[in-house]
Amino acid sequence: MRLDHTTWQEVEDYLKSSDGILVPTGSTEQHGPMGLIGTDAICAEQVAMGAGERADALVAPTLAYTPAPFNMDFPGTISLSVPLFEALLGEILECLDRAGFRHIYFINGHGANLDPLRRVAGQVPALTVRIRSWWDFEDVNDLRQNLYGEWEGMHATPSEIAITQATHRTLAPGDAVTPPVKLSAEYIRRHSGDRHGPADAHRKQFPDGRVGSHSALANPRDGFTLLEMAQQALSNDYRKFLET
Ligand code: NI
Repeated sequence: MRLDHTTWQEVEDYLKSSDGILVPTGSTEQHGPMGLIGTDAICAEQVAMGAGERADALVAPTLAYTPAPFNMDFPGTISLSVPLFEALLGEILECLDRAGFRHIYFINGHGANLDPLRRVAGQVPALTVRIRSWWDFEDVNDLRQNLYGEWEGMHATPSEIAITQATHRTLAPGDAVTPPVKLSAEYIRRHSGDRHGPADAHRKQFPDGRVGSHSALANPRDGFTLLEMAQQALSNDYRKFLET
């Protein structure tokens, strides 16, 4: 159930039986030659919507404007500064608190959101906050590793693109038809959470926008499987979260 498709009376009724809500967080940034600008937001929102149906949970509007400064040299990217994003998150938590929500579950689709989310999570003492990226659920992670192995990479991943193919559209691979430069384990470790350098250097290093991910391995069938699995995993984890 989408929060923005309910009335205030419906929310008031909902709060009599549940104090939980799912909040999807994504990004608005380039995702390589065959990945949609909204990939991270689409994935987080689709996972949240399916889990929300399974667990009778409200789903807040997706936070799609987030920090992605390293992608600013690719047109279409819209990046908020980290302080602005943290202020936005903080005010959203205050509003949810005031309405009577107590369990706030951020379902994330963009690595660079994680540090800001963690910093803001404890800001409203009455709230219990959980933060998970959709690819982190164990069976989802196993599946994407089985499907794509090391070609999953870091950005414009075949798994996230497969989900957008299942729910939106499938583009011809174009420049993504050839495998990207393979990343070292050391590079992946040092840049987890999207800890990338300045925009000009980032575009120079990854000219087509893929960061170690072989996007062209994606297909809509994989996307449906990944999405269903992530929706079920989130629904299970959300129900447990409500008991904490
Ligand atoms: Ni992404």
